Amino acid sequence: MNTHRAAIIGLTWIAAGPLHDPPHPVFGHIHADNHAAGYLPIENVTVVGACDLVPERNAEFIANWGTHWPEARTYTNYKQMLTETSPSILSVVTPDHRHADIVVAACEAGVRGIYCEKPIATTLADADRIIAACRAHDVVLSIDHTRRWRQVWHQARNLVRSGDLGPLRRIVATLAGPRAMLFRNATHLVDMVNFFADSDPAWVIADLDESHAAYGPRYAGDGGHDPATDPGASAYVRFENGVRAFIIANKDGVARFELRIECDHGRITIDDGAGAAEVSQLAKAAPLGGEATGNARAMRWTMPAAPLAWGGLEAGLREVIAHVEAKAAGIAPPAPLVSTGEDGRRTLSVLLGILQSQQAGNAKVTYPITDA
Ligand SMILES: NC(=O)c1ccc[n+]([C@@H]2O[C@H](COP(=O)([O-])OP(=O)(O)OC[C@H]3O[C@@H](n4cnc5c(N)ncnc54)[C@H](O)[C@@H]3O)[C@@H](O)[C@H]2O)c1
Repeated sequence: MNTHRAAIIGLTWIAAGPLHDPPHPVFGHIHADNHAAGYLPIENVTVVGACDLVPERNAEFIANWGTHWPEARTYTNYKQMLTETSPSILSVVTPDHRHADIVVAACEAGVRGIYCEKPIATTLADADRIIAACRAHDVVLSIDHTRRWRQVWHQARNLVRSGDLGPLRRIVATLAGPRAMLFRNATHLVDMVNFFADSDPAWVIADLDESHAAYGPRYAGDGGHDPATDPGASAYVRFENGVRAFIIANKDGVARFELRIECDHGRITIDDGAGAAEVSQLAKAAPLGGEATGNARAMRWTMPAAPLAWGGLEAGLREVIAHVEAKAAGIAPPAPLVSTGEDGRRTLSVLLGILQSQQAGNAKVTYPITDA
């Protein structure tokens, strides 16, 4: 079995916080909530490098993870780290607007697989640079919109794709509360809307929170720490396949991450906090508009909770490694990547379309768009 050399750039808690839970006796490390914890249970990976501009973060990395990977060296200059440690797998965990230069340099340095934090970038130009560099160097790229590795979302999408609920018509997506920041948190919500819509956006109309009415058409944040620099919004997105999405990501209201997927013969409500989905389905013999009406013959069921084999971050890293290995062996990967660079770009384009609609007086913004 080949051993992969991994490295991590940006070393806050989401990259390298301490390992909280002892391994579960049956499932092992099921709750990897940071990149280092995600690498730990993967048998054929050794972390050889870690880098942060701030020396204290490097010291924390050694304190938290040094005993697990004694050969790991720390750096304050990522280019030096790429040259001296030659990683094949890289986690990019720097702030949102500082992903692109690092991904491009990593591709040029010979990295084979990159797991890049969400959102892919904060401008379409940067997203395009990331995607182009990975294509040019044949590098596997995956974007950590973490829910894409959680089972309930796949169960729900499989049900929609099966056609048993009839055609998908609408998605109502809610993320309220003070953390409803478009780029920091609502990027997860928009990404799940895209996950279900299965189509490119055609146009968007949006209305930012009043506190951010004059925000401007470009991201103006600090990477996510200050909610004052990252607006909340309500938006209506029409997709090319006709699906309609209502995105409610305002900072007032009760914090909740929820999607309601509405099809002709049923609907699914997914509660992210509970990790569960409730399905209401009209009996197939009586579709809406058919002989039986209303919900008289509706059935309700909750999707069975499936045990998680791996936490989201571990699953995402395992997938990158599986694709790197398949490329090296010249064989097809076991399944397509669940969160490609193009998926990340699509999500970013909705976030930016929301800003551009607000800037234009809540006007309809038609895709494709470019950076304003
Ligand atoms: N998937 C999730 O659920 C999730 C959760 C939290 C954060 N994130 C994402 O993770 C990323 C990091 O978030 P954060 O809050 O830790 O950001 P942050 O602003 O705290 O920065 C992370 C670290 O990167 C370092 N850094 C910045 N530029 C660097 C460079 N050129 N070289 C080396 N180190 C550099 C900083 O010193 C800092 O320690 C963001 O993209 C964020 O959106 C994702």
